[in-house]
Amino acid sequence: MKLYEKSQINGMVLENRFVRSATWEGMAGDNGSTTPQLINCMEALAHGGVGLIITSHAYVLENGRVRPKQLGVYHDDMIPGLYEMTRAVHGQGGKIGIQLNHGGLFANPALTGEIPYGPSVVDRLGRSPHKEMTPDHIEEVVEAFGLAARRSKQAGFDCVQIHAAHGYLISQFLSPAFNKRRDKYGGGIENRSRIVADVLKRIRDYVGPQYPVMAKINSRDFLPGGLDLGDALRVGKLLKENGADAIELSGGTIISEEKNPARPLISGKKDDAYFKEAAVAFKETIDLPLILVGGIRSFPVAEAILDAQIAEYISMSRPFIREPDLINRWKSGDLAPSTCLSDNKCFAPAIAGEGIYCVIEKRLADKRLKNQLF
Ligand SMILES: Cc1cc2nc3c(=O)[nH]c(=O)nc-3n(C[C@H](O)[C@H](O)[C@H](O)COP(=O)(O)O)c2cc1C
Repeated sequence: MKLYEKSQINGMVLENRFVRSATWEGMAGDNGSTTPQLINCMEALAHGGVGLIITSHAYVLENGRVRPKQLGVYHDDMIPGLYEMTRAVHGQGGKIGIQLNHGGLFANPALTGEIPYGPSVVDRLGRSPHKEMTPDHIEEVVEAFGLAARRSKQAGFDCVQIHAAHGYLISQFLSPAFNKRRDKYGGGIENRSRIVADVLKRIRDYVGPQYPVMAKINSRDFLPGGLDLGDALRVGKLLKENGADAIELSGGTIISEEKNPARPLISGKKDDAYFKEAAVAFKETIDLPLILVGGIRSFPVAEAILDAQIAEYISMSRPFIREPDLINRWKSGDLAPSTCLSDNKCFAPAIAGEGIYCVIEKRLADKRLKNQLF
């Protein structure tokens, strides 16, 4: 069965084709450090059988932080804590990559103490006030991604993933809705892609050729005047030319409303695997391993995606919040679909500072406990 076939991405051996897509857990320390709660969460995912875990987006510079209790990778002091995380996952036979990010216009001034910056000042988009990045800011960010990748490799991560999706800094540069620059970082897609190409090259300078470097990108922004599929394909090609080892394909931004990256699945089947058509276009154009995310909930759908060679890897986020052991359950022969309702209620506990969990599952567990007690 293809879903359980071993594979390699630039030397990283994966036991199966399932990926836990990057998910902000809201479990890190106030300075972005790892915590026992976060390490336990990663360990449980590895124990549950997913082939590759991608951490939450981790901020590469303190002024790029988006969320409270978000993981950080902005200083060498974080390496020992991150090492504890990778050690726990490896102890379970799992693999783990870290997602590197800068929030750009969506960095949170209440957390960073700074006015956010991005490619351009754009009314109504991003946090207000915000400012346009100078070439020095851009160099600072490119170097920060490189250093963060070096720290990640030292901390034992099996790969790094550049977050170039969902409307954060790199995605803002790629998007004509956010990027109004007239210098070499703005204009056509080649210029708008310059920062992601520079980030990729700088990461390579620090980690060398034999280390898996991936990127998560949008197929479309679903914003008026945002990145479209044609330009997204050109970004994918450029990433390949600059040495990326795999692409995770997503879409939407945190301000794309109902077309945000984590869509509520209202009517089940017809809405599942919602970037499948875009993935077909990618596979036709770009010869790189493709990791498909977005609304995949059932084993047969995952299998059909691999069989049709639409993607090589199946990535999920919300199903693992409800069932960290989903992959082992499927492997045991219980092929019932994920019980995730895609209601996005899992964000609330993370925002409240408790760390993400499935609210429905907790309600059911509490009920079971009560029934046992009385
Ligand atoms: C609570 C939560 C946090 C998320 N955090 C991230 C993140 O840190 N980085 C990222 O690229 N995507 C993030 N996402 C988006 C997911 O990785 C994924 O692209 C999206 O949820 C669609 O996949 P799904 O339908 O399997 O949940 C998050 C989604 C959720 C629900």
